[in-house]
Amino acid sequence: RERKRKEGVNLLEMSASFFRERLKMPEAQMAREYLERRGLSPEVQKTFGIGYAPGQWEALKQHLTGQGVAEAVQVEYGLLVQHEESGRTYDRFRDRVVFPIRDIRGRTLGFGGRVLGDAKPKYLNSPETPVFHKGRELYGLYEARQASHRLERLLIVEGYMDVVALAQFGIRNAVATLGTATTEDHLQRLFRVVGEVVFCFDGDNAGRQAAARALETVLPQMIDGRQARFLFLPDGEDPDTLVRKEGAEAFEDRVTCASPLSEFLFDHAAQGRDLSQVEARERYASQILAAIEKLPEGMLKSLMLSELSRRTGVEQSRFEALMARHAPVVE
Ligand code: UTP
Ligand code: MN
Ligand code: MN
Ligand code: MN
Ligand code: MN
Repeated sequence: RERKRKEGVNLLEMSASFFRERLKMPEAQMAREYLERRGLSPEVQKTFGIGYAPGQWEALKQHLTGQGVAEAVQVEYGLLVQHEESGRTYDRFRDRVVFPIRDIRGRTLGFGGRVLGDAKPKYLNSPETPVFHKGRELYGLYEARQASHRLERLLIVEGYMDVVALAQFGIRNAVATLGTATTEDHLQRLFRVVGEVVFCFDGDNAGRQAAARALETVLPQMIDGRQARFLFLPDGEDPDTLVRKEGAEAFEDRVTCASPLSEFLFDHAAQGRDLSQVEARERYASQILAAIEKLPEGMLKSLMLSELSRRTGVEQSRFEALMARHAPVVE
């Protein structure tokens, strides 16, 4: 099993270097221009190992097969797609800029590929394979650690381009979830490396919804000493567009001013409610109490309860009694 895993990792590394080499060829002219248009210097391209998947149906397949890799293995690791009826196989990534997705030790586990124009889908990712699990890996974590082994905080952004654009501006501590919601697994991995995470989602509806879901996911992980903060970008912006518009310093200032979890929680619950009404205050308090219940026992939980009590004028012991009633019965 271990040998098989190693074989897969080798194969993925071979593919990554194939894509990198292809980015230098004449056929990749458009891809190079695309990367230049997006403001990515050759240095940043190199740091992230960005490459190009040629437009042909069997470029990678022929390369790997020539190196003695069985087709079935190429399919297993998501490099080839197998047509269901005919059984024919062909390259998954074609005419795309390719971002290798690496684990914390720098081994390539999969790829994300972006179209050069505006065809759909915009990004294509490796499927689940024996080594690649979307809900687990974080794009840019290896590169962030390479930039500094003493990271204080990590920014969680949505996209590949956000990570590399921030790096282009010298902000080298961003990681991206791969088009999925932030999972418990992601957060465990991040908190193993840093004490603080800053969520930084796009300034659109999807981004705001993602922030609300991230809050739910992070609550049970807030053991004392950890910090989570939330950065809201202006409408229509993502970290890539914003850092280009405002520059690194302004972006860093936004990070510095990001809302702590407590502030986000209280503000979010107050939104759209007229707190001069008792009924609205009831729903407000219930929503916050439900979140506080998810926090692990500790200082933060106690302080949040007393803050809720301060804000509502209801004694803390009343909330504690309510929480005890909701608590699961231990057998
Ligand atoms: P966005 O649509 O915000 O893309 O999706 P982006 O990163 O800003 O892309 P650019 O700037 O147009 O190049 C955020 C992330 O969601 C995933 C990718 O991981 C992407 O980076 N995604 C998006 C997909 O997996 N597939 C898609 O078709 C679109
Ligand atoms: Mn995402
Ligand atoms: Mn978006
Ligand atoms: Mn975006
Ligand atoms: Mn973008």
